[in-house]
Amino acid sequence: MPGLFDPVTLGALQLRNRIVMAPMTRARAGTARVPNAIMAEHYAQRAGAGLIISEASQVSVQGTGSAFTPGIHTDEQVAGWREVTGAVHERGGQIVLQLWHVGRVSHVSMQEGGHAPVAPSAVRGNVNTFTEQGFEPTSEPRALLREEVAGVVDQFRLGAARAMESGFDGVELHGANGYLIDQFLRDGVNRRADDYGGSIENRCRLLLEVTDAIAAEVGAERTGVRLSPFTVTWDCIDSDPGPLFLHAVRELDARGLAFVEIVERMNTSAATSGDGEGDLGFTPEDVRAAYRGALIVNGGYDQSRAAEAVASGHAQAVSFARPYVSNPDLAERFAAGQPIAPEAPITALYGGGAAGYTDFPPAERASA
Ligand SMILES: Cc1cc2nc3c(=O)[nH]c(=O)nc-3n(C[C@H](O)[C@H](O)[C@H](O)COP(=O)(O)O)c2cc1C
Repeated sequence: MPGLFDPVTLGALQLRNRIVMAPMTRARAGTARVPNAIMAEHYAQRAGAGLIISEASQVSVQGTGSAFTPGIHTDEQVAGWREVTGAVHERGGQIVLQLWHVGRVSHVSMQEGGHAPVAPSAVRGNVNTFTEQGFEPTSEPRALLREEVAGVVDQFRLGAARAMESGFDGVELHGANGYLIDQFLRDGVNRRADDYGGSIENRCRLLLEVTDAIAAEVGAERTGVRLSPFTVTWDCIDSDPGPLFLHAVRELDARGLAFVEIVERMNTSAATSGDGEGDLGFTPEDVRAAYRGALIVNGGYDQSRAAEAVASGHAQAVSFARPYVSNPDLAERFAAGQPIAPEAPITALYGGGAAGYTDFPPAERASA
């Protein structure tokens, strides 16, 4: 039976253990949105994970929806990320970049020319987004024109190409948490009458086109996809998520990706603006049955539940988000049976500098 500390191969990625650092937006990239030295230090401190998935990184100005988040669409950002990947590799770690387009979860102040954010349909989310001024209601979006969709696919493809230029070991498409890809998937936001809306096949079209474009650019064996079938974030709802997501993961399975990462539960008010949990008529086990490739699972896992998930074959690896905030050496602590530091205060999560970011000590120093 595989254990958490056994190596595993996910496509072209050779993980030295099955403990993955989940993507976490920490809003430390400043108003320039360029990765910097404290970000390099932060990720290097966490290089003991079998794999790091970076914070969500916007593929364009249009895809931007939150203050101080890094992008992957300018030469400066590529140069900044190169420092991050270099620092992680120096410590023997591996890191993939999460490619992000927020769709409607944005504000006109972050859009070129103050234009409306784009969405599958002109359906505004009843949520606030984090701008440089604080939390503000998201702006009224406009529906993407049919002929604009190919351009959006290309934003992701270019982002993937730039990620490889930045020295990443691969990329993860952010298809989760109520952002653009998820907005196309779900019928509460996608009311389109063309071939990107309506049927499940049509609503999955953008996800699959973007996945294929990224895989063509960097190789399927360096491409991952994150989905969140069981949670509702940013007011992005679907009337019947079971058949939708089971179709999506079956299609992804046929593509021989490095991995799919499934958010099974969220249980936090910190990451999102709302949680929708309950009996959806399908389970993480159903997703596993529909997707036989390499799977990373996420959401509220601790060491013992993670070990069970890996041993039973439910997943090849488990990703941890919140525990990695205050435990830079989480994998090492698990391996040594050392205590886990208490959860970081919510004030440490988003924005600011090194405080609450790079100053959580590893266990040796914590107990010294
Ligand atoms: C501060 C914070 C930032 C997050 N940012 C992202 C992100 O950029 N991309 C993403 O896919 N999920 C993001 N999430 C969600 C986490 O990756 C994860 O799905 C969630 O926290 C549940 O896992 P956990 O119980 O291990 O924390 C974030 C969560 C937190 C707490």
